[in-house]
Amino acid sequence: MSAEPSAPIEGQLNPAERALLAAPLLAAPERDWRVLEVGTWLGGGSTVTFLRTLHQLGHGHLWGVEADRGIYERMIGNLRAAAPDAVGRFTPLFGFSQAVIPRWLAEQPADFAVDLAFLDGGNNPREQITEFRLLAPRIPVGGHLFSHDAKLRKGKWLVPYLRLLDNWECELHDVSDEGLFHARKLAAEPSPASLKAAQGRLFRMQLELQEIAAAAVPRRVCAWIFARLPARMVRRIADGRR
Ligand SMILES: C[S@@+](CC[C@H](N)C(=O)[O-])C[C@H]1O[C@@H](n2cnc3c(N)ncnc32)[C@H](O)[C@@H]1O
Repeated sequence: MSAEPSAPIEGQLNPAERALLAAPLLAAPERDWRVLEVGTWLGGGSTVTFLRTLHQLGHGHLWGVEADRGIYERMIGNLRAAAPDAVGRFTPLFGFSQAVIPRWLAEQPADFAVDLAFLDGGNNPREQITEFRLLAPRIPVGGHLFSHDAKLRKGKWLVPYLRLLDNWECELHDVSDEGLFHARKLAAEPSPASLKAAQGRLFRMQLELQEIAAAAVPRRVCAWIFARLPARMVRRIADGRR
């Protein structure tokens, strides 16, 4: 039985990042891992990495949220074709994480735990905060949270926010231009003082003019403006790349 793809699927994340995502699973192979990822893209990066690892362990399940209908359909086809032995361990969830995660959690048993979550959806930093707040209560002590683009716009609120919560042990892996952030839950709740500090920092970060404008300007208007700017400038504004 092999979960090796017959043909490579398009995917992001470099080999070091893929190894970091798989490491907690391989370090506790007896655990019946429940993994959720946001932003599968075409399936050939984080999704196939998790699936191959679960297949290697012989148990566990992965749920993957994807918001773009065309990409979602291609991702399912890609995984069925390239990892047929492992795809039974995967449930794709279509839609935006903000709507899908609460619906999905409501369908699970009351004691359902998300052992590992990986956040790699949209570029808006608000999304990772929302996803974290939805998932954190279901991540058990000892559970893991990863987020991608930790050095870019996508992660610019979650990383400092989480670092101030004293019930998470955090590490930023500087192994790519984007950066992979890893946090392990140490206690069910943060201390009141650390929660207050984290919320205060988040409040101040949310006052940033660029993000207020991004939230206020309709998506279509943003697209119209970006279409008229040089690609490099768009990457700097939208992704936070230098
Ligand atoms: C950077 S790509 C993910 C790359 C993928 N993890 C990999 O390793 O190849 C981001 C994906 O997230 C999707 N996306 C963006 N916002 C989302 C959201 N709020 N909920 C779910 N998916 C989202 C995009 O359509 C895109 O396919």
